[in-house]
Amino acid sequence: MSKLLKNKLALVTGSSRGIGAAIAIRLAAEGAYVIVNYSASPERAQKVVDEITKADGLAEAVHADLGSPEGPKTLIASIDKCFGGEFGGRLDILVNNAGTAEFGPFLESSDQSYDKHFNLNVRSLIELSKDAAKRMAKSGWGRIINIGASFGEGAPIPGVTLYIASKFAVHGFTRGLSREVGSTGVTVNGVQPGPTNTDLSPEDGPVSDWFKKLTSLGRFGKAEEIAAAVAFLASPESAFINGENLTVDGGFNA
Ligand SMILES: NC(=O)c1ccc[n+]([C@@H]2O[C@H](COP(=O)([O-])OP(=O)(O)OC[C@H]3O[C@@H](n4cnc5c(N)ncnc54)[C@H](OP(=O)(O)O)[C@@H]3O)[C@@H](O)[C@H]2O)c1
Repeated sequence: MSKLLKNKLALVTGSSRGIGAAIAIRLAAEGAYVIVNYSASPERAQKVVDEITKADGLAEAVHADLGSPEGPKTLIASIDKCFGGEFGGRLDILVNNAGTAEFGPFLESSDQSYDKHFNLNVRSLIELSKDAAKRMAKSGWGRIINIGASFGEGAPIPGVTLYIASKFAVHGFTRGLSREVGSTGVTVNGVQPGPTNTDLSPEDGPVSDWFKKLTSLGRFGKAEEIAAAVAFLASPESAFINGENLTVDGGFNA
């Protein structure tokens, strides 16, 4: 069977670990050349690249701290150089996955926490999407996929107000941008994970039993289950889906 993403260039932010790593591995398995972005975990990014190349895929790791003002520009500059510059500035798939969450009462939260959530979860995603949408419009085909959260549609628990606000912003941006670029051949969609077993939200963490009960499947998701939804939205098979935020949460938001 032919690979659906053969010869496509994909950039996955925050793909050294967790959901991003699973997305990078899955897109590479579908034939894409994958830029694996990392910030603090160079060894883990290299492990992802090694796993992809061992399976006859193609990947390169690129450092950029997307929580810093210059991070998105650094990553954008790397797109032209990756894989020996053979894509000539083209980018086919952007997965904005890098994100962070801090827990605690909002009334005691710091300005730094606000900056952390909004610089990484929102600002970098917006900057990268702007650049990517222009590149994709030139070639007439592109997929922008934003990783939001089931918390991007509701607030089922207290203590994550800044995170929820940032993910509502991701949800709204996804819908707004889809309206602006759809006619250029570029689709913009979101995937909204529920509790997924990663370093950010381990299935054996302090509140994991509570999270499990809030899903109707009674369990955490696997990073690969989120990656499967991303792979579908990245593929030509999703051509008529635009401005959608697909919730993959085991029934958390049902
Ligand atoms: N896990 C869940 O239950 C869950 C639920 C809903 C939504 N999500 C969303 O899914 C996405 C991935 O979450 P995850 O659970 O996989 O998180 P994770 O296990 O904490 O992994 C986060 C990834 O983001 C990267 N990252 C962190 N700060 C960065 C920065 N400043 N610049 C560039 N990359 C950075 C990390 O790379 P380095 O280590 O190299 O810095 C890592 O690869 C996030 O947007 C999150 O909000 C997760």
